[in-house]
Amino acid sequence: MEKSKLKSIGLILVNNRPTSKLTPKIAGMGIGLPDKVLTNHDFEKIVDTSDEWITARTGIKERRVLEENENPSSLAVSSSRQAIDRSPVSDSDLDLVIVATNVSDMPIPGSAPFVADHLKTESDIPFFDLKAGCSGFLYSLDVAYNLIRSNNYQNILVIGLEALSRVVNWRDRSTCILFGDAAGAAVISNSGATGTILASAIYGDPTKSDLITVKGGGTRFPAANGKKEDNSYYIEIKGKGVFKSAVNMMKDASVKVLAQAGLKLKDIDWIVPHQANIRIIKQLAKSLDVKMNKVVVNVDKYANTSTATIPVALDEAVRGHSIQTGDVVLLVAFGAGAAYGATVLKW
Ligand code: ACO
Repeated sequence: MEKSKLKSIGLILVNNRPTSKLTPKIAGMGIGLPDKVLTNHDFEKIVDTSDEWITARTGIKERRVLEENENPSSLAVSSSRQAIDRSPVSDSDLDLVIVATNVSDMPIPGSAPFVADHLKTESDIPFFDLKAGCSGFLYSLDVAYNLIRSNNYQNILVIGLEALSRVVNWRDRSTCILFGDAAGAAVISNSGATGTILASAIYGDPTKSDLITVKGGGTRFPAANGKKEDNSYYIEIKGKGVFKSAVNMMKDASVKVLAQAGLKLKDIDWIVPHQANIRIIKQLAKSLDVKMNKVVVNVDKYANTSTATIPVALDEAVRGHSIQTGDVVLLVAFGAGAAYGATVLKW
């Protein structure tokens, strides 16, 4: 493409490759949490476990879970409302809605239409679900970042929505204690004063796709064959394999995204990692040689909320004044697939 044409659509040439001069930002954020709290002591009445075991192995003390009659997408709607109201854009300025989730309201048509239907967007804007395990929020952020830099979209609503309480086996003590329900939303836009996305990188290792699975309900193990007591409908985790891969891949993504941003680890003020387990988080910090006082942790309060952990932790850290204007923030995630990735922000 001619240089003049690239310029007119907001792209410039660096090392002969087109790059964008547009600077997408996280222009507003919000979170949605169920009211119901389940503590580790509550689990002592459900399965053969103890507060001591759960705290020592995972760092989790409590989690929020939806009541049976509550709709998961209601969490996405409330987080979106906050994110839009805190941003300089309004519902009608949005030109795309992406819902990162692993357990959509329905296999067809997913969750995105149910969320979009509750917002006052233009009637014909596109929306879709994105499934990339616990990395779904960072994958969606990467999509939004690149679409905005291409100048084809201006304001994209990205939501991490998860209700894994609906797919855990409440009789399996090794998995049911690990998860909570939540949603976190972000408006990605060229508008806004903080939260500039400096670099974004997403990766995958399909040879590790057996680490975290829910086998039932897809075309290999269709819903028609399923019964409620069929274990294929529950989440299965190879815990030790997850632990090792999560640390290695999050380290890999961190190093690569920092190189992309032209930064070093010493330039990072805060890391907001996926909140699966405090031991994974500590091991990641150790492998990056970063002190834990630079790492945002809330796994104790909400457990693993999959796609929602990073937006919820980021929003809480900003609202609690831990992350300040000008801070450089590294977001990093690993999840089913194995999909992983990282983002660097200047707040
Ligand atoms: N309470 C008491 N005992 C338990 C519990 C529990 N809730 N769960 C398992 N145990 C028992 C097991 O039955 C086993 O007993 P046994 O030795 O008599 O057979 C013993 O504890 C050890 O079990 P392990 O599974 O080997 O426990 P481990 O030390 O590996 O800890 C854990 C399990 C916490 C899941 C760990 O593997 C881990 O941190 N994995 C990575 C995190 C993870 O899987 N997160 C899930 C989401 S994935 C993601 O978000 C990317």
